[in-house]
Amino acid sequence: MRAIAITKPGGPEVLQLVEKQNPEPSRGEVRVRVRATAVNRADLLQRMGAYPAPADSPPDIPGLEIAGEVDSVGPGVERLKVGDRVFGLVGGGGYAEYVVSHERALAKVPDGMSWEAAAAVPEAFITAHDAMTRGEAKTGEVLLVHAVGSGVGTAAVQLGRALGAMVIGTARTADKLERAKDLGLDHGIVPASGKFADMVKQVAPDGAACTLELVGGTYLAEDLRCVTTLGRIVLVGLMAGAMSELDLRLLLNRRASIIGTVLRARPLEEKIMAVRAFESQVVPLLARGAVRPVVDQVFPLADAAKAHERMASNAGFGKIILRCD
Ligand SMILES: NC(=O)c1ccc[n+]([C@@H]2O[C@H](COP(=O)([O-])OP(=O)(O)OC[C@H]3O[C@@H](n4cnc5c(N)ncnc54)[C@H](OP(=O)(O)O)[C@@H]3O)[C@@H](O)[C@H]2O)c1
Repeated sequence: MRAIAITKPGGPEVLQLVEKQNPEPSRGEVRVRVRATAVNRADLLQRMGAYPAPADSPPDIPGLEIAGEVDSVGPGVERLKVGDRVFGLVGGGGYAEYVVSHERALAKVPDGMSWEAAAAVPEAFITAHDAMTRGEAKTGEVLLVHAVGSGVGTAAVQLGRALGAMVIGTARTADKLERAKDLGLDHGIVPASGKFADMVKQVAPDGAACTLELVGGTYLAEDLRCVTTLGRIVLVGLMAGAMSELDLRLLLNRRASIIGTVLRARPLEEKIMAVRAFESQVVPLLARGAVRPVVDQVFPLADAAKAHERMASNAGFGKIILRCD
């Protein structure tokens, strides 16, 4: 099969199109003919040598999510059959024509959804849905979403609207906030020198009940300044860094929670649980158009380096897709 390999740690140029052996499905696994995959921040880190693949994934082929058809099934597979259109999470190896996955880590793609749209779904919607579940986001409450133009952000804003939350979001450019309004953003904020808590309190005086923190760094201190009593801050990403100085009195007095989350490092059983929850609660919303994948740009698999450059530029809105014809 054709695949994109990380030939050595480095810049986008180390991503090269190579020939690899087709993987074979083991017990409970299916092999998927990948039609499209999508780029994630973790792929950029892995390419730079800063985020090794889990032990059960190809060490040199990046790619955490796929959409494609089941091409062969291993022993004991019960739910899926050859030809089924599926999407889901993989521990790695998604930048390839074929990948194997446990059948329960995949969900069926809604009828009529293109491969490019389907590949824009799994990481963004499963991460956002799982984080909102952990953060107990509720109807009528204030949901604060950072980096609303990111893949995860565009999914979270829509899931917030579908839930009936009041969605407040941040981005560093007004243009992305404007585009996020079409997805259900009620109030957009461009942080001023990284500060946004006062602006959140102007529109929601009690503060945010659930915050999806995709930026990290100094944003966490601001999240605490605008968290409501018993509020939940779910730390999903560290785009602005891993260090933050916090006023712990705010955490204590508001009896708030900070919850960390990561999908890739979870054991298979827990990933399957996240995918099953996504299948029952989010796929029906996708099927009836209540939420939709947001595609920024589509590149052929061979142009993975260009796709990585696009992500690193922070210019995108939504997901960057690699097509695997
Ligand atoms: N925990 C998990 O399991 C999990 C799963 C998936 C993703 N993630 C994380 O979630 C985050 C979003 O992922 P994604 O793939 O959706 O990202 P993405 O589409 O690449 O978008 C990231 C956005 O973050 C903003 N940003 C970048 N650097 C920033 C900075 N220093 N300060 C403020 N904003 C900054 C940029 O938007 P603006 O320029 O508009 O501000 C950028 O477009 C990443 O940190 C990723 O690692 C975590």
